[in-house]
Amino acid sequence: MSVGDVPATLVLLGATGDLAKRYLLPALARLHVAGQVPERFSLLGVSQGHLDDDAFRAGAAAAVREHAPEVPGPQRDAMVAQMRYAAADVTSPDALRSVLDTAVPPVVVYLALPHTLFAPVITALGRIGLPAGSRLVVEKPFGTDLEDARRLNRLVLAVLDESGVFRVDHFLAKQTVLNLLGLRFANRIFEPVWHAGHVERVDIVFDETLGLEGRAGYYDGAGALLDMVQNHLLQLLCLVAMEPPTSLGERDLRDRKLDVLRAVRSLDQAEVVAGTVRARYTAGRVQGRELPAYVDEPGVRPDRGTETFAQVRFFVDNWRWAGVPFVLRSGKALGRDRREVAVTFRRVPHQTFGADEPAPADVLRLGLDPDRIALEVNLNGAGDPFDLERADLAAEFPPVELPPYSQLLAAVLAGDPTLSIRGDEAEESWRVIEPILRVWSAGAVPLQAYPAGSDGPVQYRS
Ligand code: BG6
Repeated sequence: MSVGDVPATLVLLGATGDLAKRYLLPALARLHVAGQVPERFSLLGVSQGHLDDDAFRAGAAAAVREHAPEVPGPQRDAMVAQMRYAAADVTSPDALRSVLDTAVPPVVVYLALPHTLFAPVITALGRIGLPAGSRLVVEKPFGTDLEDARRLNRLVLAVLDESGVFRVDHFLAKQTVLNLLGLRFANRIFEPVWHAGHVERVDIVFDETLGLEGRAGYYDGAGALLDMVQNHLLQLLCLVAMEPPTSLGERDLRDRKLDVLRAVRSLDQAEVVAGTVRARYTAGRVQGRELPAYVDEPGVRPDRGTETFAQVRFFVDNWRWAGVPFVLRSGKALGRDRREVAVTFRRVPHQTFGADEPAPADVLRLGLDPDRIALEVNLNGAGDPFDLERADLAAEFPPVELPPYSQLLAAVLAGDPTLSIRGDEAEESWRVIEPILRVWSAGAVPLQAYPAGSDGPVQYRS
């Protein structure tokens, strides 16, 4: 594959699924509006249901209307009019070959499928091969453990070389996430204090008010650790902790992220027990909405013990970050949305303003959705000039023109893997997560309960 090959067909496997409807079809529609879709490019939707082209187009139009309502009707209708549909068992090489034979090459094959299907589908693709210049997009989680990720990588590389493989993580296309790079590497003032000498702790938090939202088929086999921490939050940790890359080229950026992952400590049993929390929500009320207990959601198997809240205290064992806890946490059905990276600095070495009221630590907060950056500092108060007050130096950012999935699709179409996860990064992330999974599945960290709408289980504090 070379960047010069312009894909002609997006072969969307799992085209009637939740991911396609909520994210991918709306993202493609937005790309059309932005004029970023190649000429004569079309979509071939594939799934198991027996639909005809018209029924599929009607479903696609409805998904775009619902999830990208700003897309003008005529553009939406022109886009769906180009779409075709094929019913196929995507794990069967013969069925896949028949589908691909009808697609104009080069193709982008997008696996918008449950992760249990990745290996069989990629194996089938390996048997039949893809036309020159094609690309493969794989969703998360990439594998179920280190060995599985290695096996998937081998299967993938039997289909295409690494430059044609896009293991997507839509967090990498979020505005605030990219702002981390700008903030750190386009300014002089943060980098000199961006290390264990001045930073006390880093919290990477993605608390959601959303519950399961009908996704038991996928989520109940994954849980919060695999759904959020293994991929999205570890990627955020990489961007916070990485050394300055020489350029923003895919090689430099991904090499530096890999360095961080390699430095993340493999937690031993005692560290997992002391530094992780797993919990599941019970019935409750979230922002005025009654939510059933997770175990009563349709499709959930309570005996699986799937967690809807995960918190892990990691350490990055290198010169820059020795001893600094990186606390990653994510939960569903919590009382409020809190999505941020918070960098807490060490307190000043001497209390000039008196020891009775030690000045609180400075905190730099990078908020995601809505995008916001705030630096919490101590300043002299308006009343007594020798009293300290907290001030929030904040900037809010308007929503970006192209949301993350549109940016990811644009990058795939352009053949730019900068915002995708390289195979070695995917494996290293599993190396970091596997010890936690092992200790959790041995039952050494009890599954706590928290009512939906609460602040979550008793908080871990480092
Ligand atoms: C997805 C997870 O990858 O990210 C979801 O599977 C989560 O569980 C979602 O809700 C959060 O991302 P966003 O961009 O939709 O806020």
